[in-house]
Amino acid sequence: YVERTLAIIKPDAMDKANEIEDIILRNGFTVIQKRKVHLSPEQASDFYVEHYGKMFFPSLVAYMSSAPIGVFVLAKEKAIKAWRELIGPTNPFKARETHPGCLRDTYGKDQTRNAVHGSESFLSAEREIRFMFHDSIVEPIATEQ
Ligand code: CMP
Repeated sequence: YVERTLAIIKPDAMDKANEIEDIILRNGFTVIQKRKVHLSPEQASDFYVEHYGKMFFPSLVAYMSSAPIGVFVLAKEKAIKAWRELIGPTNPFKARETHPGCLRDTYGKDQTRNAVHGSESFLSAEREIRFMFHDSIVEPIATEQ
């Protein structure tokens, strides 16, 4: 089944946004919506609320509100898992060893500045798409069987 996920190009990778968008398309994702946005610290805290209280939360919020980001709603067969496979593990140094060639290996700089984000489950994808595109109807896309 076709599903949607939320992808973000983070501040450190915005200079490579066109290159990353090409990779997205070459991997068979459809871009349903996209926008460039500069989050306030409050909005970044709200978006990452599930990480509230973790030791990296303040630096994550400061980073994600430091400059514009590229936000995409992507659709594909099993998009959530497919996008997370393409981006690779959170830590780019680990990504380099276990998933060479993944987006975080290629474009990530460190654990915080790891180039891209992807929703981790169906529920977080719904929440994150609504957060970034408040007028969205978020339901699985019906496909012909
Ligand atoms: P992301 O997939 O956007 O989800 C949460 C983000 O928090 C993650 O990518 C990283 O940017 C950041 N993050 C997660 N774990 C750590 C960590 N141990 N140290 C610093 N930043 C982290």
